[in-house]
Amino acid sequence: MSKINAVITGIGGYVPEDKLTNDELSQMMDTSDEWITTRVGIKERRILKDHSKGASFLGIMAVKDLFSKKNVNPEEIEMVICTTSTPDRIFPSTASIIAEETGIKNAYAYDIQAACTGFIVAYTSAANYIETGRYKKILIVSTEKMSASVDYTDRGTAPLFGDGAGCALVEATNEEVGFVDSIIRNDGSGFKHLHMKAGGSARPASHETVENREHFVYQEGTHVYKNAVWDMSEVSAEIMKKNNLSADDVTWLIPHQANLRIIDAVVKRTDIPYEKVIINIQKYGNTSSASIPICLWEWEKQFKKGDTIILTAFGAGFIWGALYMKWGY
Ligand code: UT7
Repeated sequence: MSKINAVITGIGGYVPEDKLTNDELSQMMDTSDEWITTRVGIKERRILKDHSKGASFLGIMAVKDLFSKKNVNPEEIEMVICTTSTPDRIFPSTASIIAEETGIKNAYAYDIQAACTGFIVAYTSAANYIETGRYKKILIVSTEKMSASVDYTDRGTAPLFGDGAGCALVEATNEEVGFVDSIIRNDGSGFKHLHMKAGGSARPASHETVENREHFVYQEGTHVYKNAVWDMSEVSAEIMKKNNLSADDVTWLIPHQANLRIIDAVVKRTDIPYEKVIINIQKYGNTSSASIPICLWEWEKQFKKGDTIILTAFGAGFIWGALYMKWGY
């Protein structure tokens, strides 16, 4: 019996219309287009301005985009895995809300919290379910309303993040395409350098936590930067070596879009030429776990069946990883 593979058969995406440019940010705080462009590589980011809508809205729009492009019967989807650091609420899962609103009635749905590495973790999980033969159709939705977690008085974090969502339908196939391998690592000592101080059970919301502005992203940027550079570069090189892939064998590299200088370091370490590297950070900033599927969404038409694609990401935890797949259509 031939092996069952887990292949992406469709991609959807959505970014809100409203843009927040570097020049607009410079009116709000002590920063400049020059600083943000040279230190991070971002020119603008998308913001969901409607305060009544959460990350589920972005995810629902991405799923509707997928359904409008591809003939999918929502009732055939067996599982919805949502990745988000900005869930609508602590519970229920954002995945349940997305499933309900998109007509997915015969699936179970749950969220994964793996910060910016969420898509790599979710696709690895989906592949494991599918390769066993128990599941055939799984929807991954990576959605982030980062603007809800960003302190727009903090110039150290406010310019970095944006809102958006991407989704991928993963199906069983006997063809030699789809998920091949992934390496995912964790280092919980990273906690102190990147976290949200309050809002969870360890420190529930109170007048004090609100007054102290503890419900926002707290990041020690330089420390996180150094770890991201090292870990994303090494894990990308490691997955290539483990699978006997040279830079020539790789068709596309899709790095998490956190900082252009981090992407440069991964490119240097892997020797993958720049024209094979997918970059859209200048338009969207860091959309956390949505950044990789948003890249897949934007480049979908340029991919060819059998293309060798490497994904890599690093995020809060710390959790980081790389994934090797063969494109399926
Ligand atoms: O996706 C999850 C993982 N997150 C990341 O991967 C983010 C990783 N970190 C980074 O990308 C970078 O560390 C940042 C972009 C956040 C910061 O860049 P940096 O080169 O590490 O700058 P820095 O924090 O060391 O700050 C350098 C200087 C400081 O001024 P002094 O002390 O040298 O006078 C900052 O106060 O730049 C100043 N600065 C700013 N200046 C203008 C910090 N933020 C800004 C700003 N505009 N927005």
